[in-house]
Amino acid sequence: MNRLWMSCSIGSLQLPSRLVCTAAGEGMCDGRFHATPRLVERYRELGKAGVIGLLITGHAFVCPEGRRREAQISAADDDGIPALTEVATAAKADGSRIFLQLSHGGLCCEPELTGMPSLGPSAAAHAPEYAGRAMTTEEVQRVPELFARAARRAQLAGFDGVELHMAHGFLFSEFLSPFFNKREDEYGGSQENRTRLAVQTIMAVHDTCGRDFPVIAKINSGDGVEGGMTLEMALHSARMMQQAGLDGLEISGGFCFQKKQSDTPMKPVSLKSGAGIGYFREAARRFHKEFSIPVIMVGGIRTFDFAEEILTRGEADMVGMCRPLIREPSLARRWYRGETVSSDCLSCNACVKLSRTSAGLCCPVKKAGC
Ligand SMILES: Cc1cc2nc3c(=O)[nH]c(=O)nc-3n(C[C@H](O)[C@H](O)[C@H](O)COP(=O)(O)O)c2cc1C
Ligand code: SF4
Repeated sequence: MNRLWMSCSIGSLQLPSRLVCTAAGEGMCDGRFHATPRLVERYRELGKAGVIGLLITGHAFVCPEGRRREAQISAADDDGIPALTEVATAAKADGSRIFLQLSHGGLCCEPELTGMPSLGPSAAAHAPEYAGRAMTTEEVQRVPELFARAARRAQLAGFDGVELHMAHGFLFSEFLSPFFNKREDEYGGSQENRTRLAVQTIMAVHDTCGRDFPVIAKINSGDGVEGGMTLEMALHSARMMQQAGLDGLEISGGFCFQKKQSDTPMKPVSLKSGAGIGYFREAARRFHKEFSIPVIMVGGIRTFDFAEEILTRGEADMVGMCRPLIREPSLARRWYRGETVSSDCLSCNACVKLSRTSAGLCCPVKKAGC
């Protein structure tokens, strides 16, 4: 049997395969940021036949000031639970599992969108794109509770776990990074202090949802900027998170240095264009070697053979794809039937712009012959 289709586990949760559909902000919510039928259908389609072991939703905001996008999913209010329940039920109909990704956009949030100032560990005067205000210590101390409540909503809606978005320059990523975090209280100054908020949040989610509700994190293996978090720092932070009860890691990298809506396709490190497969391969391999919790490799995986190779060589426990499954949500089912074609996703990132607005996530690039 191919490794990809072998079951595996995250914490006490069994997954039917080792293939993960990683987060993609959908832009498919209504005016109250609750899931629409289109969002439900997206996950029903991806969950068909239970071939994708784990589906991870696009980032859902945990409080109004942490919202990053139009039409983004809200995990910030109980009124959204019925719509979230429909998403989870549709996704799990054939056996796939689904996690809600939880985020606070930090300095990446736009006051024009939220009506509130952007908040982060420090004011980031050296990065004008990220202008905002430093959170007070009391404001920081409220964050774990916000995530714990949001995770509880996910649990009540039938999600199998949550992924904390700790990558790409969002709030947790800013706290973890010496590039953004210039604090002088217990949340800054050393990598241990910079990791404190992440650790407290993981523990708060477990306290609220129980130890059997898995909590994983998507983290930067490096920030990709001078003065940012390095691989060694990331490993150190992740060790602390593992000790705090983290159940799994998805390895990414870089910042989304594009705060304003822009016509140019986004090209941060996490979304490389062009040639090259598995651009976080080395980093994921390093994490996998050092950690006992499952590691998901993502970034530029485009062929069945490459995914199999990663698993066969033991370089990661699971492999994730995002853009190929936007391009063709049924790709995994084709692979499962033995039709192991390469994804024809061009990694052009034209879908990113659509996901930012209420137009909604889709691949606008025509298929050959259409
Ligand atoms: C349109 C779009 C939206 C994305 N939204 C998120 C998100 O909400 N949260 C997240 O952690 N990553 C997000 N990502 C990043 C992907 O999960 C993934 O890490 C990245 O696309 C690299 O994988 P790929 O080469 O398979 O696309 C997004 C990517 C795309 C293309
Ligand atoms: S627009 Fe389509 S082809 Fe381009 S990266 Fe997105 S899914 Fe792939």
